[in-house]
Amino acid sequence: SALAAIGIAQAAYPEKTITMVIPFAAGGPTDTVGRLFAQSMSNTLKQQVIVENVGGAGGTLGAARVARSAPDGYTIFLHHIGQSTAPALYRKLSYDAVTDFEPIGLVADVPMTFVARKDFPAKDLKELLAYVKANKDKVTYANAGLGSASHLCGLLFMSALQTDLTTVPYKGTGPAMNDLLGGQVDFMCDQTTNTTGQIKGGKIKAYGVTTKTKVESLPNLPTLDSSGLPGFEVVVWHGLYAPKGTPKPIVDKLVQALQIAGRDATIKQRLDDLGTDPAAQNRMTPEALRSHLKAEIDKWGPVIKKAGVYAD
Ligand code: MLT
Repeated sequence: SALAAIGIAQAAYPEKTITMVIPFAAGGPTDTVGRLFAQSMSNTLKQQVIVENVGGAGGTLGAARVARSAPDGYTIFLHHIGQSTAPALYRKLSYDAVTDFEPIGLVADVPMTFVARKDFPAKDLKELLAYVKANKDKVTYANAGLGSASHLCGLLFMSALQTDLTTVPYKGTGPAMNDLLGGQVDFMCDQTTNTTGQIKGGKIKAYGVTTKTKVESLPNLPTLDSSGLPGFEVVVWHGLYAPKGTPKPIVDKLVQALQIAGRDATIKQRLDDLGTDPAAQNRMTPEALRSHLKAEIDKWGPVIKKAGVYAD
């Protein structure tokens, strides 16, 4: 019968390559997290999990692609806090951030760093704040479009300073970092998964971290909260999703593969070096991701509306 055939197909899943959509350009922080987990999940699922970077519009183009993909388990989606800010930023989103996706689980919480090109004049956060205020029409701020984590951090920064800055949007903070290294853009707020290497290599200046506690792998960086931007906090949580309607037996296999990756020593070491770690096992569940996503939509919606920022 058809039901038996469906049952057999689900039991045999996966029988071919799985695509993990990353809604930002290759070489950025989301891509870094995605490829780490895709590699481990490939080993567990015994099928290649290949990454497809679908950048643009702050991650919403990638989300829209996944929302209309077949719910057969062969398309999955790794996105971050941007899944929760897009509903307030885009009034005409072509998808519903909650109901068009099947949550698999939380993946990692990544701190952000305030970084500038190497010869930016400010030597610490207080000087940076003063310099930006005094030169607000000159300085340029890089982000990855409305809906990106770098955009959200910038929005909070500009609200705190009561200053609007010229922002330069990229398809991801991978490309943005190239321009920061080349001095074509002045500063940005980006995740430790993308900035740690450049900070330690002395290629960019760093002023602080966006977490309330210091980041072990960047011990010399103060928290922004304690060094001039009281209350400033952004943690870039990441979630793994499938399209709505993906059958439960398939979702269960993806949850298991995610949790195995979360225990993988290589991934833990790599993420530790980059200022983060896998989400706890009990957060790598559909329920944990669904409730966190809803809580974050409720949290950031009013902040974005108050800032009066809309993408469309
Ligand atoms: C990226 O992967 O490029 C970043 O997540 C962009 C951002 O969200 O700032």
